[in-house]
Amino acid sequence: MSELKESLGELSDLNFFTAEELVPDPYPYFDELRSRCPVTREPHMGVLAITGHAEAVTVFKDPDTFSSCISVSGPFPGLPFQPEGDDIGDQIEKHRSELPLHEHMVTMDPPEHARARGLLSRLLTPRRIQENEQFMWRLADEFIDEFIERGECELMEDYAKPFSLLVIADLLGVPEEDHEEFRIALGVPRKGARPGALDNEVLADNPLQWLDDKFTAYIEDRRREPRGDVLTSLAQAKYKDGTTPDVVEVVRTATFLFAAGQETTTKLISAALRVVGERPDLQARVRADRDLIPTFVEETLRLESPVKSDFRVARRTTTLGDTPVPAGTTVMICPGAVNRDPEHFPEPDTFDLDRTNVREHLAFGRGIHSCPGGPLARVEGRVTLEKFLDRMDDIKVSTAHHGPSDDRRYQFEPTYILRGLTNLHLEFTPRESENR
Ligand code: HEM
Repeated sequence: MSELKESLGELSDLNFFTAEELVPDPYPYFDELRSRCPVTREPHMGVLAITGHAEAVTVFKDPDTFSSCISVSGPFPGLPFQPEGDDIGDQIEKHRSELPLHEHMVTMDPPEHARARGLLSRLLTPRRIQENEQFMWRLADEFIDEFIERGECELMEDYAKPFSLLVIADLLGVPEEDHEEFRIALGVPRKGARPGALDNEVLADNPLQWLDDKFTAYIEDRRREPRGDVLTSLAQAKYKDGTTPDVVEVVRTATFLFAAGQETTTKLISAALRVVGERPDLQARVRADRDLIPTFVEETLRLESPVKSDFRVARRTTTLGDTPVPAGTTVMICPGAVNRDPEHFPEPDTFDLDRTNVREHLAFGRGIHSCPGGPLARVEGRVTLEKFLDRMDDIKVSTAHHGPSDDRRYQFEPTYILRGLTNLHLEFTPRESENR
């Protein structure tokens, strides 16, 4: 039994949406919910929590029954209407524009969702993604150059945050001379820009405003004067039916990638390097066999899924397993819980490089909203691990900052939506003959 469980008794008595006690280690709480039922109503907000893998797949793959209109905000601020009857489809459509982030694809349902997603696939072409990987190898070296001689780093500030930010900037073709401006403007969190904070601070109207303004200027400029660069192809992208999107629609699609892909990837990178620093046995194994790196990244995604909760609302009255789900119910899928479902992943709490079904984790969701940035995040994880192993020996978690190995202290972001470290101090020996 975990220490937390011993000290608190029934973990599910805690309010998942506000309890700081659940932030360092939410997994015993998830286990407790799952042991009652993989579909359990949590008592504080009346949210139906999904902790079973099969049940989560059912919800993800049924956008007709489960609307994404509250996918990011969950129970806060709540639906702007009182659900009536067994089908609230009309009510959702009537009030959709009052819901947070309603203009972004992650909250859209068919058929609008397909249109927005189709435009995104025109931006994320295989060629663009390949070029972006070339940039990543270079960028990883540049950031490592800045701290390698110190023999230590604070991974988040020195590497993971600026790395994941500039990878997306490059993906979208932001000229390199503007990268520093992006790093400064987006490096400081703005009030209301942090969805899922435990103080339930409501999202600012548009936390992406700075980016919206910047990309509007880029796109308008390229529509006026095409230049044969990536931003020009972005400006000229068309919908599947051949029509040209309004500037605002291209801008939204582009800027949302920063919101969706930056913090999540930062959390993946820090979780992976924490394992490297904590587990000399695994570090030695991947050093000896670099082909294991992709599995290492997947197993990190499974065990430390960066998205902790993802929401739907039941559009129609239905059932999940034997559990009745009235129309209007908020459903919460917990990727970190379903990825440790012992029915699907034997010995779920073990980091296992030989796990054969590891790619069946749901860290990137499933179905029509499944993460389009997944392939990119995986490459970011792989490039980072390759470069750290190439250029550093004996990577360790800093005892000075995180305590001795049998009594570590880590701080995690206090949100119910994301799971990840706030900082990670590493120590290492720079390699004599650095591979670059
Ligand atoms: C480890 C990193 C990442 C994780 C764990 C992650 C996780 C997720 C999850 C769980 C969803 C599904 C949301 C839902 O079903 O409601 C999602 C959607 C999305 N992600 Fe990611 N993501 C990551 C990185 C990225 C990156 C790098 C990008 C872009 C460059 C990105 C862009 C998006 C977009 C645009 C959506 C919305 C898709 C839609 O609604 O159709 N993500 N992500």
